[in-house]
Formats: sequence, structure tokens, C-alpha cells
Amino acid sequence: MSRIVFVNGEWKPEAEATISVFDRGLLFADAIYEVTAVINRKLIDYPGHTARLKRSLEALGIPAPVSDSELLDLHRQIIERNDLESGLIYLQISRGAADRDFLFADGMKPSIIMFTQKKNVLENTKWETGLSVVTVPEGRWANRQIKTVQLLYSSMVKTEAAKAGADDVFLVEDGLITEASSSNVHIVTKDGVLVTRHLSNALLHGITRASVLSLAQGSDLKVEERAFSVDEVLSAAEVFITSASAFVMPVVRVDGRSIGDGKPGPVSRKLLQTYIQDRLANAI
Ligand code: PDD
Repeated sequence: MSRIVFVNGEWKPEAEATISVFDRGLLFADAIYEVTAVINRKLIDYPGHTARLKRSLEALGIPAPVSDSELLDLHRQIIERNDLESGLIYLQISRGAADRDFLFADGMKPSIIMFTQKKNVLENTKWETGLSVVTVPEGRWANRQIKTVQLLYSSMVKTEAAKAGADDVFLVEDGLITEASSSNVHIVTKDGVLVTRHLSNALLHGITRASVLSLAQGSDLKVEERAFSVDEVLSAAEVFITSASAFVMPVVRVDGRSIGDGKPGPVSRKLLQTYIQDRLANAI
């Protein structure tokens, strides 16, 4: 099915949408992005995603090409134009197009593109089985709090892991887990403490992570925000990842070793249910 996409102020069938070959997003990965889930035609965690979008733009010194209300209107329009009952909205803003030069000028006109991906985000067979992951060295740049489109390393290692039969990777720096290829990593210790890495430039400040943490803090679950090691992952009662596309996804094998009894555990199961319920109730 042909989608209607948004490119620099215009709505186009996907086959007719074009972008300059000189766009710095293409030539330098000089662009940032957001992925927002849609359920029942409503946006999940939208305020968090727009707030982070602004932080990413600010960090790279790219001016916002649209106002807050225009941005919300674009999201609503792309849902309507694509009859998007459930799925994802991808939004990317680059610094803009200019002749190829490492030096960029002030005052460039940012490019903006948006498209949808239709899928039933409330159905995911992997929630039942859990994921199998392998650890690999962290190889990304040091400013991972900015959601840039520099995704090549994560894409390469995830593809290699898939060829070896795994679902995803955990990135490891100085013996500590930073993130998975496109999600935040959390463990539940055998004492029932939810441990998640504290916010810093080492990881993306996940919007789903923030929502799940606030739900966990509102329950009787104890939460610790600190870095944790591969050994702590291997001896955890539960391991799970969070993202806008998978919500709360259990991980049941790491480097070929079972986590807990090798099945999705009760804490991740409960957090997934609570997250969906709560975020649906607050969707806009
Ligand atoms: N990825 N860490 C990384 C490196 C990510 O790429 C993502 C999201 C997350 C989770 O963030 P959030 O909960 O805000 O989605 C953490 C999106 C889904 C993607 O690239 O498709």
C-alpha cells in the first residue's frame, strides 16, 4: 500500500517524495529523529517525544522548522491521511541541504520528513517468548543522549547477531551495559529491585523508560538508577528492554545463558500491561 509521506511542507505519495542529494542528513548523518507509537489513532507518550526532539535539535544547534502546534497537527494529519489505526510515526529533521562541506553555515533551512509504519503494536508474539540477545562492545559515539540518525553501528551488530540466531544485542562499555540496539535495558534482581542505568550521555533518555520507571515507582517495586554489569544481567531474576515500538519486552537469554527460568517473568509482564493501560488512557 502506498503511503502518504510528508517532505518539507508537502504531502506526497511515497514514490513521488524526494529529498536533495545534498541533504546533510544523507551526507553527514546530521539529523535527529523520533519514533512515536499510535494506538486507536492516538499518539502514545507524545509530550515526551516532542520534548526530547527539542533537546536533540538544541544539542545540534538545528532550529525547529515547525512550531509545537504545527508539529502536533502534522502528527494528526499523517494519521488521518494514512488511515493509521495502529503503528508508528517516524519523524526526521536534518540541518538541511548545502554543497558537501564539513564546515556548516549558520542559518541553514532544516529538512523535515515524516512517514508511517502500519502494524498492530498491541500484538507482539515476542512478548510471550521473550528475546535472546548477545553482548557486543559499545561502538557508538559518546553523545548517545541525542537521538541522531547515526545508527550504522547498531544496525550492523544487530544484523550480525540475527545471522547468529539472536534477536538483539546488548552494548557493553567498561563491563557495563549501555543499551540494546534500539532500546533501554533494565534488570530485576533476585531481591526484586528494578535496576536501570542512570541518565547520562552514555544512553538515550528513553521516553518509554521514563514512563515505566514512574509506573514502577508508583507501585511497591523498589527502583535503583545505576549502571549494571553483564554479570548482574546473567544473575538477574528478569531482564527486559523498553522502547516506543516494543513497549516492555522480556529478554530470556543472554549470550546463550537463560535468565531466571528462561521465561518472561512476572515483573516485566505486569509492567507491560500497566504501561499499555496507563499510556492508552493518556494518549492524545
Ligand atoms: N529507538 N535507546 C536507543 C538507542 C533507541 O534507539 C531507542 C528507541 C531507545 C528507547 O527510547 P524510547 O523509549 O523513547 O523509544 C533507547 C526507536 C524506537 C527506533 O529507533 O526505532
